Amino acid sequence: MKNNQTYVWSFLGRLSHWLLVISFFASYITSFYEELLTLHVSFGIFVFGMFLKKIVWGLIGPKYARWSDFDFTLKNLKFYFTEKIENRYREIPAGHNPASSWFAFLVTWIGIFCCLSGFILYGIQEGNGLTSFLNKNYYSLMYIYDDIHIILVYILLAMIFFHISGVLVEQFYHKTNMVMAMVSGYKKAKGTDIKPRFCMVFFGSLYTFFVFILFFYVYFIPDNILIKSKFEKIDYKAMHKDFQFECSDCHNLIPPHLLPKDSWTELMSRQDNHYDEDLNLSKSLAKSIETFLVENSAEKSTREASFKLHEEIKDSKKFTITKTQYWINTHKNIPKEVFKSDKVESKSNCIACHKDFEVGILSDTNITYINNK
Ligand code: HEC
Ligand code: HEC
Repeated sequence: MKNNQTYVWSFLGRLSHWLLVISFFASYITSFYEELLTLHVSFGIFVFGMFLKKIVWGLIGPKYARWSDFDFTLKNLKFYFTEKIENRYREIPAGHNPASSWFAFLVTWIGIFCCLSGFILYGIQEGNGLTSFLNKNYYSLMYIYDDIHIILVYILLAMIFFHISGVLVEQFYHKTNMVMAMVSGYKKAKGTDIKPRFCMVFFGSLYTFFVFILFFYVYFIPDNILIKSKFEKIDYKAMHKDFQFECSDCHNLIPPHLLPKDSWTELMSRQDNHYDEDLNLSKSLAKSIETFLVENSAEKSTREASFKLHEEIKDSKKFTITKTQYWINTHKNIPKEVFKSDKVESKSNCIACHKDFEVGILSDTNITYINNK
């Protein structure tokens, strides 16, 4: 202790704190862009790594970072707030006060569950990564997991808001210079300085390095096991030559798994007036294509788009994908001129923006559209 200051937060502890802040906000911002999904997931894994570190650091780290040093007694929590109001220049503890003890505990576990719900969602909705095996049986839970993930994120955001407010009150009202504590490691409080042991520093650094490597691995190595999709490219030509030939003449081939079977039957029954065109298919050819479409319809697929389009269209027999609410919502941020540009020409020209669309792939990371109006 010198000049009434105690060294409480080790370098690694402070580093993890700020890395957590950066990666959390980076994953939050990237979540708004479907095409940045891999980056979002990479940051999410980083956040998860930092939360896990917090738990382990709380078991083996320096004194004030240890869970055993935290104060969880409710009586002290009540006293903390009473004293806060009554005594502006009260003494603060070197380690966590009761309020920040509870905060750190809750934020860590809610953070862990938030990341886990994200990994599950990544598997059941997108069919990606280590949890992609869940897609097969649990794809219909995608809405629920999406909600859980989002609710947890907003709980975390609210907590961060309170945390920052609390720190600012400490800084400017109680004048405890709290902001600097997480920068320099020194806190205006009485206590014994921490002396992180060599093995703590060594393993802590190694772990942090490992989390960085993991981040770069996930983001930069194509098709790595943490992001790999369970959905393979589909060779429609090999599966049904006539479908591939007849249905890719005027527009890109539309994968059968995007529409429910009743919609396909309806579309084929109106082949003489297909958006003012006559498809002119012989009866047997039309029947054969229809059978193929029905056999591979949205009902048979566990993909996100299949599930959501099927949910919306169900028995209505509609077959214009671009008129569905789902399609309109997912494309609402794209300026109208883009669809009329030379490169795209029409809304129905899915392939202009969705790479590998004609082989049945509709993943977020395959969106090649760049705002080039
Ligand atoms: C003679 C030209 C032609 C052929 C051949 C053709 N289509 Fe179309 N199709 C159109 C036109 C025109 C539209 C309207 C959308 C557009 O402007 O591109 C359309 C739209 C569609 C849509 C709706 C796309 C959207 O915007 O949501 C589906 C689904 C579709 N066609 C399926 C098929 C299938 C299946 C076949 C093969 C049996 C087929 N089409 C063959 C001309 C054709
Ligand atoms: C002008 C480019 C463009 C065209 C044309 C286009 N899309 Fe998209 N699509 C996008 C973009 C960009 C997104 C991501 C939107 C976002 O950030 O939320 C997207 C998202 C989607 C999604 C949601 C993906 C997911 O996993 O959430 C589906 C499904 C989709 N498009 C289907 C289609 C289909 C089917 C067609 C053709 C009928 C089509 N799109 C035509 C640009 C386009």
